[in-house]
Amino acid sequence: MAPLSNTAVRDIETVVHPYTNLAAFRETGPLLLERGKGVYVYDSEGKAYLEGMAGLWCTALGYDNEELVEAAAAQMRKLPFAHLFTGKGHDPAIELAETLKEIAPVAISKVFFCNSGSEANDTQMKLVWYMNNALGRPKKKKIVSRLRAYHGVTIAAASLTGLPNNHIDFDLPIANVLHTMCPHHYRYAEVGESEEDFATRLAAALEELILKEGPDTVAAFIAEPVMGAGGVLVPPKTYFEKIAAVCAKYDVFMIDDEVICGFGRLGAMFGCEVLGFRPHAISVAKALSSAYLPIAGVMIPEDMYQALLVESRKIGTFGHGFTYSGHPVAAAVALKTLEIYRRDRIVESAAARSPQFQKRLAALADHVLVGEARGLGLVGAVELVADKRTKQSFDPSKGVGARCVRFAEEEGLIVRFIAGDIVSVCPPLIISPQEIDDLFDRLGRALDKTRDWAKREQLLAA
Ligand SMILES: Cc1ncc(COP(=O)(O)O)c(C=O)c1O
Repeated sequence: MAPLSNTAVRDIETVVHPYTNLAAFRETGPLLLERGKGVYVYDSEGKAYLEGMAGLWCTALGYDNEELVEAAAAQMRKLPFAHLFTGKGHDPAIELAETLKEIAPVAISKVFFCNSGSEANDTQMKLVWYMNNALGRPKKKKIVSRLRAYHGVTIAAASLTGLPNNHIDFDLPIANVLHTMCPHHYRYAEVGESEEDFATRLAAALEELILKEGPDTVAAFIAEPVMGAGGVLVPPKTYFEKIAAVCAKYDVFMIDDEVICGFGRLGAMFGCEVLGFRPHAISVAKALSSAYLPIAGVMIPEDMYQALLVESRKIGTFGHGFTYSGHPVAAAVALKTLEIYRRDRIVESAAARSPQFQKRLAALADHVLVGEARGLGLVGAVELVADKRTKQSFDPSKGVGARCVRFAEEEGLIVRFIAGDIVSVCPPLIISPQEIDDLFDRLGRALDKTRDWAKREQLLAA
């Protein structure tokens, strides 16, 4: 291995890296990125990488959008900070809330702003509790999430997340969070079970859980339309209509986590429109500002807002908010982002590119390492397995997914491995047809290198 650069050593000795094996990192050091252009980022040596993950599923407009830079600079010059506490307000927050209400897929009354997807989902949970206290049903507090869901890492959001690494030794999940079955047909359907039958079984499992806990104790259900960090899991056909019927039957509030799927990723403005369900409340973040600045939103219906009013009258304030809730610079950038999405028909063009993207992705299913290639819109993943026939996974300690990511980087492609040797792709929405081909050519070569290495290591089934 090449010796680490001085900058790499400084990084190792100063920064705690999120989602990193901190022990292994001391040997490998960082991939230091310096600049970006279009769908490419460049490392400190000048090597170009196609950013196949849009950063962390977020840089929808790529890496050199001057209009977003200008929007930020103009707002910084005019009013670099203002808060929304104690009745203060400003134009960027008002306009952004108006725009979000306008494009919302369901009737939204108000928007609460925060800075991250985790904060948005924490807020969702608090608002549901607050609402049910206002409505005089203090027992109705449990939130149902799903195994392999990803809703963030703050204490409540990490509890909603259904991935072991976010719970183990963090003493999570907290009370009042439950996890129902994961809607992944490839892994969890029974032999010969159709997607529809699997969906029926998943809805029955949810109903059983609600009945076991007591419907008067179950307040809400939270779901990503397509699960992202849990492995890019597209639910089986009819899933959401069946789940929504169960929620409606027991008066369970439906929260839609659109942090990845929102703003065009699945080929419509919101993921729930593609998956066919109508939530009560929605969390948005990431592509809301094309990730140029941190901003997130909690979009709530009128009846929830009425409950907040009741509590406010009783307590004297709505005791929740962040210093940077609706930060004017972030809000101005988000507004410009939404304007560009509309003006340049970004969502339509993402939808138009999806068939090519999904076709190239699906073709990877023929690769000896790929158990399943799956996706929707402009997001996808390949699940790497030791044995295609039995679906046997690799021993996690062999780090096959991590190895594939490293080979991809050699090929000038950034992808990510997530839970269980799953390699995900989620490029900027502005990716061109040629760049989509380039992405999959590079990923194919990375998979071939991974296969050759896995053979040498004797990791593949005979
Ligand atoms: C669906 C979903 N919800 C919530 C989050 C948490 O967002 P953040 O990392 O901004 O806190 C993420 C992050 O990837 C996400 O994918």
